Amino acid sequence: MLIKIPRGWELPDSAATSETLFRQRRSLVTAIAAGPILAAGAALLPRGAFAQSAKVADPTADLYPVPQNMRYRPERAITAEKEATSYNNYYEFGTTKTIASTAQDLQIRPWTISFGGMIEKPFTIGFDDLVRKMPLEERVTRMRCVEAWAMTVPWSGFPLKAMIEMAKPTSGAKYVHFETFKDPKNAPGLRQFWFPWPYVEGLTMEEATNEMAFIATGLYGKPIPKQNGAPLRLVTPWKYGFKGIKGIVKVTFSDKRPTTFWEKSGPTEYGFWANVNPAVAHPRWSQATERLLGADERVPTQIYNGYGEFVADLYKGLEKEKLFM
Ligand code: MTE
Repeated sequence: MLIKIPRGWELPDSAATSETLFRQRRSLVTAIAAGPILAAGAALLPRGAFAQSAKVADPTADLYPVPQNMRYRPERAITAEKEATSYNNYYEFGTTKTIASTAQDLQIRPWTISFGGMIEKPFTIGFDDLVRKMPLEERVTRMRCVEAWAMTVPWSGFPLKAMIEMAKPTSGAKYVHFETFKDPKNAPGLRQFWFPWPYVEGLTMEEATNEMAFIATGLYGKPIPKQNGAPLRLVTPWKYGFKGIKGIVKVTFSDKRPTTFWEKSGPTEYGFWANVNPAVAHPRWSQATERLLGADERVPTQIYNGYGEFVADLYKGLEKEKLFM
């Protein structure tokens, strides 16, 4: 996201584990897990390697890959995995696109999600229990960032509607609010005090129960990487990517619309609805075309990112709202 806010403190490159070092540690750990050489090799391991090993085991890894839902045809080539997992927006880890290695410090076990507000009975559930209750599928969809870049990726996860039904909202609930963790121990970007943490997003109940609203728990047939929002994030392919809140810890049902993180940060530039529209320019740049990640190509942007057949009806009667910012 580009925004006119002083950048101030940023993690210097020297303070972050380099991607190469991180990958070396990963392959070392994988090699150890694969063979009975642990005891013999232990003395040779750098101190951080055991901590890294503890982080590698993912108790949901057996769930993937999941069956593919072919209904949402991407009509574009799938973005290379290395592009989608190394060019990210995740301000909790910094304001650059290269937060992937810093994000590996996020502790995602245990991970709980609390449900509250206008529901029959508030509750908290562990992520590993939640994901096993949900109808998992893979969907290849396009994602269009408000900054005018785009990617097409295979998300695994479940329709948001299934999670909403589990929460049993009462009839007065009109909006669902989502929140990201906000513990600076886990994420140095949270020390950028001028941002209105925690990251908050929201949808109307109609949007949230639309078939296209999705909770991603996996990417490229594996558990979703931390930099892309592990263990669970929202995916709303007809909206600008900033609606896709990562690292969700709290879901609240309300009769009030939330003021989202980006609305608070830059109210003249970012709004609640954020539906993709090539005809409505961002105050500082055109939205007519988009750059495909990993390709030297710009392509025309489509209204609702090309998913109008599924979502356009949600906005009938709301034409006076700022639907496209
Ligand atoms: N979620 C949180 N919690 N923090 C963020 O900074 N950035 C958003 C969104 N979700 C963001 C977030 C923005 S601006 C975009 S474009 C997408 O995540 C990027 O998702 P990706 O890194 O998986 O491509």
